[in-house]
Amino acid sequence: MRYVVTGAAGFIGSHLGEALAAAGHEVVGVDCFTDYYDPAEKEENARDLDVRRLDLAEQPLDLDGVDGVFHLAGRPGVRSFGDVFPLYLRGNVLSTQRVLEAAAAARVRVVLASSSSIYGEAEAYPTPEDAVPRPISPYGITKLAGEHLARAYAVGFGADAVVLRYFTVYGPRQRPDMFFRRVCEALLARSTFEIYGSGEQSRSFTYVGDAVAATIAAMERAPAGAVYNVGGGEEASMLEAIALLERISGRSLDTRRVDAARGDVARTKADVSRIRDALGWEPRTTLADGLSAMWSWASGRLPAA
Ligand SMILES: NC(=O)c1ccc[n+]([C@@H]2O[C@H](COP(=O)([O-])OP(=O)(O)OC[C@H]3O[C@@H](n4cnc5c(N)ncnc54)[C@H](O)[C@@H]3O)[C@@H](O)[C@H]2O)c1
Repeated sequence: MRYVVTGAAGFIGSHLGEALAAAGHEVVGVDCFTDYYDPAEKEENARDLDVRRLDLAEQPLDLDGVDGVFHLAGRPGVRSFGDVFPLYLRGNVLSTQRVLEAAAAARVRVVLASSSSIYGEAEAYPTPEDAVPRPISPYGITKLAGEHLARAYAVGFGADAVVLRYFTVYGPRQRPDMFFRRVCEALLARSTFEIYGSGEQSRSFTYVGDAVAATIAAMERAPAGAVYNVGGGEEASMLEAIALLERISGRSLDTRRVDAARGDVARTKADVSRIRDALGWEPRTTLADGLSAMWSWASGRLPAA
């Protein structure tokens, strides 16, 4: 098959592109290397992929001869209040609308990367897909808008879209603004780590290889219009995860508490029964194994102090 992967120079998109190529598919990557974090890091992520420089918010996406689109491009991060909001609209709403428009015209499936952030402080844990979405960050609101656009294009134009709600994905190449990446870097540099809030916030951390497997399964086997949580099996608090990384690295982390970040939820816990029943997918990587892989990558990449 010939697949387009948008956001192919990013953290999850580059792993997805490599996994598709390894499975014998032809992969056309698309990315505009935004400066949300160092574009040089994206060049490194995309080293083994054919990634075309294209800004989805303004340039046309050619889907001639393409069998499906994995739409992972976007503007991530819950710190999305204030002046940066237009960038979230552009990265997550306008770009998604344009991808859906192109895919509907070409009659190809889109697998859309959404987020657990659409739930906000969820009404139930573990959270099923039909929980009422009540995002508390502008980021979550733009991801939810992308989901609604997918539905509108399905109803209006017969578009074939599948929505995946990723829960805090981690592993090698994780974005530099994300928690585990920052912990690894602070352990390596022996610098002080700032914990936002109490550190008791917990997450369904999801290993990137598991997220990629769910994403490919969704393209291959999901019914049109499906919406699935993609979340790790083990919930852990920030403090528990730090303790695990300290054990893995053999180092101890010097920490300092700072105010909780606005838009950050206290807890996420995925109910993955729907995707398990429909696609036979479930998370396979334990947090200990996933964090060991992440530590090996981070310590191999950054000079140890
Ligand atoms: N990492 C997570 O834990 C997580 C959780 C939930 C949802 N998601 C979603 O998964 C997707 C991938 O996340 P990630 O962590 O790999 O982020 P990332 O920032 O590493 O990757 C996103 C990529 O999209 C590209 N991009 C942004 N706007 C673009 C545009 N207009 N045209 C072309 N390319 C553009 C960026 O340059 C970047 O390389 C995003 O949609 C994100 O919202 C991620």
